[in-house]
Amino acid sequence: MNDDTLGFYNTADLREAARRRLPRGLFEFMDRGNDDEIAMRDNRTALESIKLNPRVLVDVSKRSQEITLFGKRQKMPIIVAPTGSAGLAWYEGEIALARAAAAHGIPFTLAAGSMTALERVAAEAGGTLWMQFYMWPDRSLSHQLIRRARDAGFEALVFTVDTPVAPGREYNLRNGFTIPFRFTRRNVTDVLTHPRWLIGVLGRYLATTGMPRYMNFPPHTQTRITSLPMGRSTALNDTVTWDDVRELRKLWPRKLIVKGIQHPRDAVLAADCGADAVVLSNHGGRVLDSSRAPILALPQVVDAVKKRVTVIVDSGFRRGSDVVKALALGADAVMVGRAPLHGTASAGEAGARRALQIYRDEIDRVLALIGCTDVADLTPEHVIMPK
Ligand SMILES: Cc1cc2nc3c(=O)[nH]c(=O)nc-3n(C[C@H](O)[C@H](O)[C@H](O)COP(=O)(O)O)c2cc1C
Repeated sequence: MNDDTLGFYNTADLREAARRRLPRGLFEFMDRGNDDEIAMRDNRTALESIKLNPRVLVDVSKRSQEITLFGKRQKMPIIVAPTGSAGLAWYEGEIALARAAAAHGIPFTLAAGSMTALERVAAEAGGTLWMQFYMWPDRSLSHQLIRRARDAGFEALVFTVDTPVAPGREYNLRNGFTIPFRFTRRNVTDVLTHPRWLIGVLGRYLATTGMPRYMNFPPHTQTRITSLPMGRSTALNDTVTWDDVRELRKLWPRKLIVKGIQHPRDAVLAADCGADAVVLSNHGGRVLDSSRAPILALPQVVDAVKKRVTVIVDSGFRRGSDVVKALALGADAVMVGRAPLHGTASAGEAGARRALQIYRDEIDRVLALIGCTDVADLTPEHVIMPK
């Protein structure tokens, strides 16, 4: 395929390509939710149930989807969400994904649980970089990480607060992605039957830096991925409170974003603690099953915070029309997780770029079709909420 679509016409195509390329255990880890996956399904159902309310006979020949976020112009109203496993989707996938975001003029959020050191991402990708982290039980270690991010020029700190304990993900147990990692007939066969990943990703790591490690963890905890359950940080922390947000506000001089808010009152508390933004998120339906789709909580949150904080929303956004709906309901921007990750797994940087281009083209098309020339002009009148 030599055209720039790479043969991918929507984000579902990228997902399917990722499914074929990755070992099943890894694909399921990246793609699935938790428990009965009700929240994950509801994220989609909710977005699909919101209808667009077009106006016609508007000159839509000039359209803009640029936004200003934290005083900076960006080319589309999207941010790449932190996904701990980009470096397993592709060799040094975090750099690929960050470069794709930079090429599209949007921020990239590096997850603390990444395989590539944050300093390398900053040096090799450039663009607008945000750093995500969880507060480790030894808070001083998290504070060290934050200092590294500050010194490397990361512009925002994304503090994820929705995972005090490990979520129930039974498929990881079935697939043998557990602590300690046990080599079973099933997971060894899984890897061996996906040679493109075995050679192109794992093989390249083994031939260069060795078994992937969590390079942003404190040196003494940088265990190999084979010693940890997929995607779980060294230790989750069930003692984190709003005091931690207040403390971070003192430590971190740049933009502070609290990710994983669902309740309007928590959004207000984040503002009270000095946060600059909240990410209204149920982690893509991966942590608390039966949680409400963030898009449905959005109007209440926007109302509650009264513009004191920037409101970003994520979970389930697969189409440009989904993004337009969120902006119409008052979101300042949308984070996308799985789609660019699937793009990275499919074709590295080119695949990630393709994922972002798909959103861009779709947003542009939908704006024209609803008679809106600028995302800044979107209002709740552009959508019809389900009864
Ligand atoms: C494989 C994977 C790993 C993730 N890792 C993290 C993480 O380390 N930190 C975090 O705050 N969110 C993490 N998330 C959640 C995303 O940041 C984001 O909230 C979610 O993917 C949005 O939903 P979407 O995938 O439907 O776009 C992860 C999501 C996926 C799919």
